[in-house]
Amino acid sequence: KKASVALHTERVISEISPLIFGGFAEHMGRCIYEGIYDPASPLADSRGFRPDVMSALKDINYRIMRYPGGNFVSGYRWQDGIGPKENRPRRRALAWRSIETNQFGPDEFMEFAKELGTEPMWAVNLGTGTIQEAADLVEYMNLPTGTHFSDLRAANGHKDPYGVKYWCLGNEMDGPWQIGQMDAATYAEKAVQAAKLMRWVDPSILTIACGSSATSMPSYPDWDRTVLDRSYDQIDYFSMHHYAANPYPSATNMGLEKDTDSYLASNVHFAEHADTLGAAIRVSKVKNRSKKDVFLCWDEWNVWYRARGGDGDWSEAPHILEEEYNLEDALVVATWLNTFLKKADVVKIACIAQIVNVIAPIMTKSDGMFRQTIFYPLALFSNHAAGMSLDALVKAPLQNTKRYGPVQVLDVSASFDPQTGKGASFLVNRSQTEALSVTVSWEDRAPQSLTQAWQMSGGDPQAGNSFEQPDRVTAQDLALPPLDGNSVTLTLPPLSFTTLLS
Ligand code: AHR
Repeated sequence: KKASVALHTERVISEISPLIFGGFAEHMGRCIYEGIYDPASPLADSRGFRPDVMSALKDINYRIMRYPGGNFVSGYRWQDGIGPKENRPRRRALAWRSIETNQFGPDEFMEFAKELGTEPMWAVNLGTGTIQEAADLVEYMNLPTGTHFSDLRAANGHKDPYGVKYWCLGNEMDGPWQIGQMDAATYAEKAVQAAKLMRWVDPSILTIACGSSATSMPSYPDWDRTVLDRSYDQIDYFSMHHYAANPYPSATNMGLEKDTDSYLASNVHFAEHADTLGAAIRVSKVKNRSKKDVFLCWDEWNVWYRARGGDGDWSEAPHILEEEYNLEDALVVATWLNTFLKKADVVKIACIAQIVNVIAPIMTKSDGMFRQTIFYPLALFSNHAAGMSLDALVKAPLQNTKRYGPVQVLDVSASFDPQTGKGASFLVNRSQTEALSVTVSWEDRAPQSLTQAWQMSGGDPQAGNSFEQPDRVTAQDLALPPLDGNSVTLTLPPLSFTTLLS
C-alpha cells in the first residue's frame, strides 16, 4: 500500500507551545515517594533525588510540571508540607486511601522543578480548601518578604520568591470521587473568587479552570459551558482530561473485547474533544464580549485502563496505578502528540499523567529503573517538535474501525522552526498487518538531506518493557533514506512510529 505526505512551510496551523510537553506529579502511589523522592534508595543524593531518575526525566525535556494533584489536592493542606521535616504531620490522604507523610512538600517540589529545568504549575485545593488558603499559598510562593507567609518561606530557607506563574483552580470538581464535588455553577463561582484573590496577591499569575473530568461524564459539555461563561475573564486556560483504553471505555469494559484497530484510531476522539471545547471557548468569549483568548490545557492525558484500582489500603507509597505499557500504547501516545500538534492553535499546555511509577513512562525500584514504551514518543516529540505546526497534506488508504468508522491508516504531524531551519515529521502506521510505502515531499524549502530518523515497531502490539527486559520495545535509529529531489520514500512497517528530522 502507498501513501503520501506533502509539507509546505507556509501552510501553518499555529506556533507550537513548548508547554504541550508537560508532566504531572501527584502525591499518590509511588510517584513522589519512591519515585522522584527516594531518600532510602542507595542511588539517592543528599536531597533524596536519584540521578538515574532525574536523567531519564531530563531526556523527556518536560517544560511544565503540574503538582501536587490530581484528586489528592482536593484534601491537601499545603502548610503541612513546609518547615522542619520532623514537625510535619502524617495524614490520611482520603483520595487514594493512603498515608501522606508530608516529607516532600512545596519547597522540595520547587527544588525538584529547578533541577529538572521545568516550569511549575500549581494546583490549589478547592475541595476542602478555602479561597483564603489558595491566596496564602500564592503569597508563600510568589511575594517578596515582608508579610506572614512570605516571611515563613524565608524562615524555611528560601528568601527569594519562586514566581510560580501557572495555577490550576482545583481538580476534576465535577466527579463524585472528588473530595468536595460541586455542581458547575458552584464551582465556577468558587473558581472566580479564588482566582480574584490569588490575583490580588500576585497580578502576574495565570489561572486554569477545571473542565469536565471526562467526555463520558453526563454533564459534559454543559459543565464546561457553564464554567467558561462565568469564569472567562478570570481565567487564561481551561483544563481537559482524558485517558485512553483498549477496550474503551475502561470503567465499563467488562466483557468487551480488545479492539486494537479502534484503539489505534483513538485520536479521532481526542480531536473531537479538543474541537468541542475549543468551540465552547469561542462562544464564551463572545458571550462575555471579551477581547482576550483562553486556551486549552490538557493537563491529564495518557493510556490508563489496566491498573485502575486506587485503594492504597492506608499505607505509604502504595503500588497503585502501576500500569505496564506496550507497543500499541506507545502508538496511541504518538497519535495523541500528533493531535496536539494538529490542534496547536488551541491546545497550549498538556501534561502527561503522570511522570514516575503511576501511569508513567518511567518505572523505578530501589536500585534500578526502566523506560516504558511510551517514554520514546514523548521524548522524540518533546525534543524535536518546535516552531510551527504544519498542516500536512496526507493521502493514505482508509482502514475501517468498529468505533470510528473509516480512518486513514497513516497519522501524521509535522513541524518547522523558522529560527533554526529544522523540520520534524512524525508518522504512525496504524495497520496491524500491512507495511506502507510513504513518500514525504517538501513543496518548498526541501532539505539537503535528512539529518536523523528513529522508528518504533514490532509484530506484537502487546509487547512491553520490564525490569528484566528493559529494552524490548524502544525507538531504534533508522538508516537515513536518500532524498530524491524534494522528496523521500520509505517503508513504514505495520504498527510503527517513525520520526524524521530534516
Ligand atoms: O492521574 C490519576 C487521577 O486521574 C488524578 O488524580 C485525577 O485527577 C484523575 O481522575
